[in-house]
Amino acid sequence: MSRVLTALQPSGVLHIGNYLGAIQPFVELQTGNENFLFIVDYHAITVPQKPEELRRNILFAAATYLAAGVDPEKTVLFQQSAVAEHTELAWILNCVAHMGELERMIQYKEKARGKGESVTVGLFDYPVLMAADILLYDTDIVPVGEDQKQHVELARDLAQRFNKRFGEVFVMPKPQIRKQGARIMALDDPSAKMSKSAASEKSYLSLMDDAQTVEKKIRSAVTDATGLANLQTLCTLLTGKTVKQIETMYQGKNEPFKQDLAAAVTALLTPLQQKVNAYLQDEAALKRTLDAGAERARTIAAKKMERVRKAIGVQL
Ligand code: ADP
Ligand code: TRP
Repeated sequence: MSRVLTALQPSGVLHIGNYLGAIQPFVELQTGNENFLFIVDYHAITVPQKPEELRRNILFAAATYLAAGVDPEKTVLFQQSAVAEHTELAWILNCVAHMGELERMIQYKEKARGKGESVTVGLFDYPVLMAADILLYDTDIVPVGEDQKQHVELARDLAQRFNKRFGEVFVMPKPQIRKQGARIMALDDPSAKMSKSAASEKSYLSLMDDAQTVEKKIRSAVTDATGLANLQTLCTLLTGKTVKQIETMYQGKNEPFKQDLAAAVTALLTPLQQKVNAYLQDEAALKRTLDAGAERARTIAAKKMERVRKAIGVQL
């Protein structure tokens, strides 16, 4: 039995890249493992958030995971901010991490671009908080999309450095990246990854898009070689057909291919949306689920922090 852990930001929009790259692989691993899934609200505030919107987005994220098949019996599902040990361990790891290695983080460089001196310390420190998230629970496997691989590798480096200095405290985590679907590309620009922070909404398929919107977005998707390959990947993941089968079926017939793909996306999204909305109807129940998860997480995290404090010499 392995410890599997992943986390997503409560950012309002979840797209099909998040679903296929992170949520679905996690749900598949649920059986037979010990699982942790949390909503990283403290990662979200590394960029400005409106409080009321953030609150709604946290509930929306929880509803989406439950709708996608996350089972609170099998998975410890909670909010990052509800377990104070995450930020406590992040501080200690800050004192192990090097400026240089954080400056090399691609996501930081991308997000800091153009911000000059006003880039927040939180944005810079984000990967250290993520390392704390992972190491706190003796995680073996971290299913993430390709873009997060560098952050998981940083967590490994920090674990190794800490263990060398203070003894074997942390388990070495491994990123698990799907061969296919780890990097779904933007519909309107297949050279960029599908991302909710894209300038145009046409670039991603939101999990909450209705059938018409899905059709419109896929119809206008770029179909150069990379764009078509991306749509084929989506089709493979949604229908189970191989790329070869898809090529044979639709050789030179982009329009019917796009129509069938749109139908396959909608077939996934419609029942998912119904479930999300049903969960959102009962906020109190959602909160109870998250609180129960936080309680389980806290028990484990508190024990680990005791070991960490002892190892570094602050526990008298
Ligand atoms: P975004 O780039 O849209 O802001 P996040 O950074 O919040 O997405 O990613 C949440 C999870 O979804 C991470 O595990 C990430 O690796 C995965 N993910 C994000 N975008 C994609 C994508 N285009 N294809 C596959 N997985 C993705
Ligand atoms: N940084 C990740 C993202 O933006 C989210 C994240 C935070 C995470 N802590 C984590 C992912 C721990 C896996 C494990 O997608």
